[in-house]
Amino acid sequence: MDKLDKFAQGLQESILEDAKKRYSEKVILLWQNPKNLRRMNDPDGAAVIKGPCGDTIEIYLLIEKNKIYDSSFFTDGCGPTIACGSMVTELVRGKSIGDALKLSPASIIDALCGLPGEHIHCAILAVSTLHKAIADYLLRKQNGC
Ligand code: FES
Repeated sequence: MDKLDKFAQGLQESILEDAKKRYSEKVILLWQNPKNLRRMNDPDGAAVIKGPCGDTIEIYLLIEKNKIYDSSFFTDGCGPTIACGSMVTELVRGKSIGDALKLSPASIIDALCGLPGEHIHCAILAVSTLHKAIADYLLRKQNGC
């Protein structure tokens, strides 16, 4: 391992140590091993929103008979945003459109065992994007697409 590799490894370890003090184990787990992190080519509903911080999240849904049977996300955002996208896409799977619309930022934060105040907006961004993706699906359906 050369000096640069050692420096990078040390930096990574120090970032992780710092993160452990600020975030729940669940957030760190999903940040490092996100579920459903992928774009979809032909979703039934999709949306993208850029938050006030400049981070963007995309949500993709596959829906049949009013039920979400697959969901995924993509983001250029921070670790907590990755954790929120992962949690939102896990929680909506198997849910009806009506139940998915009941998901709130608070339910995401609870499922993640908390988020620091400065990252509450990551959960708001993820849920807002989910709701917009559902609206996209409903509009497509209304237009017969
Ligand atoms: Fe802005 Fe996470 S969405 S910091």
